[in-house]
Amino acid sequence: MIVTLCNKSNNLILKRNKKMILVTGATGNFGKTTIDFLLRNGISSTHISALVRDEEKAADLKNKGVALRIGDYNNYASLLNAFRGVEKLLFVSGSDILNRSAQHQNVIEAAKESGVKQIVYTSFQGKNETESSPLWLVSQSHLQTEAWLKESGVDYTILKNTLYMDFIPAFLGEKVIDTGLIYLPASKGKVGAVLRSEMAEATANILSSSGHAGKVYRFTNYEAFSYHDVASQLSEISGRTINYISPAADEYMQTLTEHGVPADFIGLFSSFAVAQANGELETTGADLENLLGRKPTSLKTFLTQVYGPSGN
Ligand SMILES: NC(=O)c1ccc[n+]([C@@H]2O[C@H](COP(=O)([O-])OP(=O)(O)OC[C@H]3O[C@@H](n4cnc5c(N)ncnc54)[C@H](OP(=O)(O)O)[C@@H]3O)[C@@H](O)[C@H]2O)c1
Repeated sequence: MIVTLCNKSNNLILKRNKKMILVTGATGNFGKTTIDFLLRNGISSTHISALVRDEEKAADLKNKGVALRIGDYNNYASLLNAFRGVEKLLFVSGSDILNRSAQHQNVIEAAKESGVKQIVYTSFQGKNETESSPLWLVSQSHLQTEAWLKESGVDYTILKNTLYMDFIPAFLGEKVIDTGLIYLPASKGKVGAVLRSEMAEATANILSSSGHAGKVYRFTNYEAFSYHDVASQLSEISGRTINYISPAADEYMQTLTEHGVPADFIGLFSSFAVAQANGELETTGADLENLLGRKPTSLKTFLTQVYGPSGN
């Protein structure tokens, strides 16, 4: 922080060059965890603010000394107001998949108009960035947002986030150990999934340092895994035999429908599994490892935490 003292008309004026970081999606998992890591990195809470839609959901942030700014991606004026005086903006992608392109355009325009210096955006990672991807519904708005960021003239950093490893148990189903069966149309495809908290930690490291303007980071693990790998590691951890069956996508969707799973979930699970079968999620690399200063948590460690003797 640069502090400038000057004497003007006998008034002592204290000008602080506050490098304010604003985190959007701060009531959600990614934003909240990033704020915790910013604080752990020694960034003062007086230099962190949080965009929230509902103040009542943000009592914990307030208790940590983080200033709340009320705003909604749908409300341009609220964003303009919230972004005033912000230097770095962590723009966490919205969760309303069908409407988020317009929301994201609002965020970028408002950031630009407010004079934000750098936008760090949580994007998406998939090898197939075309309409032919089963994940196009999810990826389309991310890719559009990346294009808008690059055109904006504001310094940007794009985080191409892989699948959260935290979601693997949801793909497996809560009774996977009892049934001994993993049933997903992912074939032999692999995914370089990473714990969400580790992506948030790396994001906080980016926000706490310089040299990231114009960079595109691939947040992946150092090795990718298939559901065959998951089955064999789960068998080892649980002491039970866990098999993996990869049905055709249609059969999978029909089976889940018959079991009463809501259509939205079926659509999401099957598109991720089919994209994985196609090899779209298999990317690995060292970007995250370099930003964390260690290897990200492996599948085996994660599964042991969740399904091992001390898990649950
Ligand atoms: N890589 C992956 O595997 C993966 C998986 C799921 C999601 N994602 C993406 O990553 C983002 C962050 O993940 P997460 O786990 O932190 O999600 P999350 O826990 O659902 O948090 C989403 C955050 O976005 C905020 N938000 C949603 N719509 C908004 C709007 N119109 N205006 C302002 N804020 C809005 C929510 O605010 P409220 O608390 O007010 O609702 C919440 O704080 C998600 O939003 C999604 O785009 C990635």
